[in-house]
Amino acid sequence: MEARRILVAGSGGIAAYKLPEVVRALVQAGHDVRCALTPEATRFVSPLVLQALTQSPVRHALFDPSEESQIDHISLADWAELVVVAPATANVLAKLAHGLADDLVTAVLLATRARILVAPAMNVNMWEHPATRENVERLRGRGVAFAGPEAGELACGWVGQGRMAEPLDIAAAAELELGAESLAGARVVVTAAGTREAIDDVRSLTNRSSGRMGFEIAGEAARRGAEVVLVAGPTPLSTPAGVERLDVESALEMRDAVLREAETAQIIVKAAAVADFRPAAAVHGKIKKENLAPDTGMTLELVRNPDILAELCASKGDRVVVGFAAESEELIPAAQRKLARKGCDLIVANDVSRADAGFDVDTNAVSFVWPGGEVEELPLLSKRDVASRLLDRIEALRAKRRAGSGEGRV
Ligand code: PMT
Repeated sequence: MEARRILVAGSGGIAAYKLPEVVRALVQAGHDVRCALTPEATRFVSPLVLQALTQSPVRHALFDPSEESQIDHISLADWAELVVVAPATANVLAKLAHGLADDLVTAVLLATRARILVAPAMNVNMWEHPATRENVERLRGRGVAFAGPEAGELACGWVGQGRMAEPLDIAAAAELELGAESLAGARVVVTAAGTREAIDDVRSLTNRSSGRMGFEIAGEAARRGAEVVLVAGPTPLSTPAGVERLDVESALEMRDAVLREAETAQIIVKAAAVADFRPAAAVHGKIKKENLAPDTGMTLELVRNPDILAELCASKGDRVVVGFAAESEELIPAAQRKLARKGCDLIVANDVSRADAGFDVDTNAVSFVWPGGEVEELPLLSKRDVASRLLDRIEALRAKRRAGSGEGRV
């Protein structure tokens, strides 16, 4: 890859001691790297080490006239093509999410137009705190990329998610952020979240899908340069940067939107949890229990919803169509049966009986199930990383087709 301008910004956590390894990997890859630190970060990593590695002065004070005279913080923000924040503490994530700029690093982050990649590192309870979850969601919605954090033993003695990603993985994520727009020219339709099937005007049937899996796929496809349409069931998630969003409620509405958008798409990924059934007739107004016989239950008649994925696959042409399978038992055989029944190019099987995978969590454990019978099991990953691995496979399948070397696992 050609040399790019990368600003590596460190904040004050114990993981900052690994910063020189991140910098060295990027310098060795031929990039022009500069560093900036928060005052707290200088307690964990020596600016002199980073200066020696980058052959450039390392800034750590916002209002120091001598530092500002070398390169002022706005010039630094303008200079960077990518800002890598490693480690990113809960404090820095909060400031970035809310636009605070009270030190050099956060001032640069607010001023830059460059892409931002953060590598969080903190105690597991801080990572799981609702305030941090909200900040992370907000940043992801704005297109900020995340490398990690990983699960494992933490410096504070706790075990859980919060360990900074390995330096080489952060460097690889940085390369990916700067990578070629590998899906430029492609139109991608992604579905996400559950559908809502009305019983009456105030009640509905739905499921626990948050939409995160599909939103990550849409965001990743947009970062790779695709034109992305995201057909989303009800969810409070914010739209990923560069994505066109179509909000729908019911399976029937989702079907109309997907079939229409799919006509001009080359790639379709169906991560939505579509309700298989809907009430036979939605009642206008609110069903009143006074109108029902006392002490009796109520029978709700359900009818089948159309299978959108099967319908798409019936006229798939040379489009790549990927389905998901949410299974709680017999994961792989059930996904293989679904693949055969629906006729798509790939099924992403997730075991929704696990607490750390499937519905309404940030992580997922999936297997790629291919038509030839091959199964590729992935480890527990963030949904963002699952999205990235999935798009790698989709790109490889398209390349294989272009080369005329057939179908099946890539
Ligand atoms: O949204 P999250 O909280 O991040 O959770 C992610 C997820 C668990 C919802 C996601 O990873 C997932 O598994 N999505 C598919 C859920 C599902 O409905 O699976 P299924 O096995 O019932 O359906 C199989 C496939 O057919 C899916 O691609 C589904 O979109 C599609 N389908 C299903 C029914 C239907 N009537 N029409 C369809 O197109």
